[in-house]
Amino acid sequence: MNRILLMSAFSTTLVFSAGNILAAPQTITPGELWPDNRGQHIQAHGGGVIKLGDAFYWFGEDRSRDNAPDKRYVSCYRSQNLAQWQFRNQALVLTNVENLQRGWALERPKVFYNTQTKKFVMYFHLDGALPGEKPGYNLARVGVATCDTVDGNYQYLKSFRPLGHESRDIGQFIDDDGAAYLIFEDRPFGFRIGKLSEDYLTVEKEVCLVPEHLEGGAIVHFEGLYYFVGSRLTGWNPNPNKYATAKSLAGPWSELKDIAPPETKTYGSQSTMLFKVTGTKTTTVIFMADIWKPRAQWDSRYLWMPLQIGDGKLWLPEPKPWTLDIITGEAITLPSTQK
Ligand code: GAL
Repeated sequence: MNRILLMSAFSTTLVFSAGNILAAPQTITPGELWPDNRGQHIQAHGGGVIKLGDAFYWFGEDRSRDNAPDKRYVSCYRSQNLAQWQFRNQALVLTNVENLQRGWALERPKVFYNTQTKKFVMYFHLDGALPGEKPGYNLARVGVATCDTVDGNYQYLKSFRPLGHESRDIGQFIDDDGAAYLIFEDRPFGFRIGKLSEDYLTVEKEVCLVPEHLEGGAIVHFEGLYYFVGSRLTGWNPNPNKYATAKSLAGPWSELKDIAPPETKTYGSQSTMLFKVTGTKTTTVIFMADIWKPRAQWDSRYLWMPLQIGDGKLWLPEPKPWTLDIITGEAITLPSTQK
């Protein structure tokens, strides 16, 4: 059964490529280099994707090798099929922020679009040491930058600790009703889900504190249940990512379960987002994760895979090349040799 499915996927792709040489098969290949329209490996690590009209925008840490060492960059890419990405801009370039010392960090940027103010609001993890402090992630704040256009030049606005709590890894969740939430890791307590204020410029209300130490937090709402995915706190090293479910964002959340065979350590990756694609035939939830290369960050890879999800269960299948039909929402996994 499986084999027939795989074979038919294989031949469909062949026919497609033969029929239209220019339109390369829109295959997503986890773990490989992922060239943008310029042929350069996409720099959007620890990132997030939002949908605007019929386009997707992917923001993430730009860790290009030739970046200025005193600056931090967030890149923005655009796509209409989630497979082929056009570089748009280094949407945020920051330097000399909050008096942070050498080695400071801007990580996990996420952009929200506020339909009332018509502003794009970027949140990110801002960290580092102040003068006289030992190097480290001491600041534990979020930074906020805004822009009038999705891929323009974002202007830094401020940094703060959401609801007064420490905040390191952040995640973004936009519910089906459009409500916007920030997920943040509060080291002494666990992970928190906070609702953004009406203008999105601050975190207004605590929705939930789950007393579990998880980062790379991501949430999806699927068939009436919320699914939370996060990693354990092992820095750049992969670990077995976990999930929990709840009927309401406020909980109660179920016990944590593995999302993949624990010995694979999430196939060497760390969660950053769960992204739902609702098509005419079906809904696919994509697990988006980073395969970090701490000593060659510019070469860090991405692991995007359609999840097996439903009835309170979530499972990350073994990574293989796959294609997504953005209209129908169908994902087809290809034999690993087929790229
Ligand atoms: C990870 C975190 C990354 C980065 C890294 C630094 O746990 O998810 O975003 O902060 O630690 O060691």
